[in-house]
Amino acid sequence: MKILFATSEAHPFIKTGGLADVSGSLPNAFVDLKHKVRLVLPAYKTVIEKLPKKGYRKVAEAEIGGCGRTFNCKILQLKAGAMKGVDYPVWLVDIPELFDRDGNPYLADDGSDWWDNGERFGVFSKVVTELAMGRMGLKWQPDVVHANDWQTGLVPALLSQEEQAPKTVFTIHNMAYPGNFPHSLFKLLELPESLWGIEGVEFYGHFSMLKAGLMKSDWVTTVSPTYAKEICFPEFAYGMEGILQMRQKEGRLAGIINGIDDQVWNPEVDELIVKNYSANKGRIAGKLANKEALLSELCLLRGEDEKRTKARLDTCLDAPLIGLVGRLVEQKGIDLVLEVMPEIIQQTTANFVVVGSGNKYFEQQIKKLAAKHPSRVWAFIGYSEILGHRVEAGSDMFLMPSRFEPCGLNQMYSLAYGTPPIVHHTGGLADTVVNATDENISNGTATGFVFYDPSRHALKSTILHALHLFTKKRTWQKLQKNGMHQPFKWKQSAKQYLELYKA
Ligand code: ADP
Ligand code: GLC
Repeated sequence: MKILFATSEAHPFIKTGGLADVSGSLPNAFVDLKHKVRLVLPAYKTVIEKLPKKGYRKVAEAEIGGCGRTFNCKILQLKAGAMKGVDYPVWLVDIPELFDRDGNPYLADDGSDWWDNGERFGVFSKVVTELAMGRMGLKWQPDVVHANDWQTGLVPALLSQEEQAPKTVFTIHNMAYPGNFPHSLFKLLELPESLWGIEGVEFYGHFSMLKAGLMKSDWVTTVSPTYAKEICFPEFAYGMEGILQMRQKEGRLAGIINGIDDQVWNPEVDELIVKNYSANKGRIAGKLANKEALLSELCLLRGEDEKRTKARLDTCLDAPLIGLVGRLVEQKGIDLVLEVMPEIIQQTTANFVVVGSGNKYFEQQIKKLAAKHPSRVWAFIGYSEILGHRVEAGSDMFLMPSRFEPCGLNQMYSLAYGTPPIVHHTGGLADTVVNATDENISNGTATGFVFYDPSRHALKSTILHALHLFTKKRTWQKLQKNGMHQPFKWKQSAKQYLELYKA
């Protein structure tokens, strides 16, 4: 089968969150299963800078209409295998006016959306459609186009207007980002009038690129079975529950859990951590060495000298270390974390390490806590892939109290790294973590800690429960091993996507 996978971010090219992890690794799983896949991604400045000089070339060129202007668009093709971990060819959509910018793919330096995001991703989707229809002279037409989130939501809608178009799958990674724009953008992009209206891309008078994907794709999927159910209810669907209920009734809504890339997120082979380990080999020593290295790195990063660092390590290496890596946004329950951290610090010996960025208020509050408790809280505000891996390996437990979580990858990474996660029972967190109740511990299924009410009390008592079990070494080790044996590999999920493609 020939699959065109369209996305706005993909590891190792550019990443802001889990969509990049999925877009980089799911295509590899299709290749392993002997299918042909091409990834299509905007040629952001950061992406071009990362490309191996000899691994890519221009393969096509066309004029594409934007908002009252026409762009010259080049397609750059990166050969399969030209970059480590990228076993498929990549098509980069090179339109310098739209993508040749520093920094984040969606946000300007001041944290606000790029002013022209509607035009940027509207035009990107038009180019993907041209590629999918085989109209760019590339002699490769896919059987299926797999689009992801609002940035490529227009692709299924545009393809629905074509004769003999490939079939389309649209995956929702997060309903919280609707890609809403004024009707004027729809006009300016000169999109087919037949797409306007409530049966199309209109959402309460606005133009929604997310709705375009939901309405017009052959299949809608999301990234966990529980989130697939949740989004049919108003609390999770931001007004789109009616559409999702309709797609569900048609039998066209599926929840397929994400996998993890075991070449990248695997403590046995991870090149970014100081000591490799597995469930059965070197786990205890490995985790301790990684904890020590992580804490010294963070002390040095905040300007402490070696003597000071050593003194800190002497006092905190035995104490439980609770890690958190992620976007510091409301979705992730950061407000709850901020409420309970001071109490946990006061009432227990546990320490915290936080790596994240996002909402400025959350960033400041975390920095304040770290400044107030320098021997108890370490914070890195910013994005660091390396620290992300090191926190997974070096922490004793991982905090992920998300208010909602379509899938969540960090809890799966935590399981794989022997770092039992503490999670709220929602979306993919509910599907991947088995609570450490007495029964689940004794029947050998427990892998982490789950709380059912997103409140500070529930979070605090669950953290206290985890800290208590941490002192029961044998039980803790069982919990770690159970988690490390969880089979969240891509192969199974990739097969489920292939079933849909065939259907
Ligand atoms: P989401 O996609 O909602 O952000 P996921 O758990 O699916 O949540 O995936 C988040 C991914 O982004 C993980 O690979 C995580 O390690 C990474 N990540 C998020 N924020 C940071 C950060 N500040 N530094 C390093 N990695 C980060
Ligand atoms: C989104 C979701 C996250 C999911 C990721 C990849 O960013 O917030 O839960 O794991 O996409 O599908």
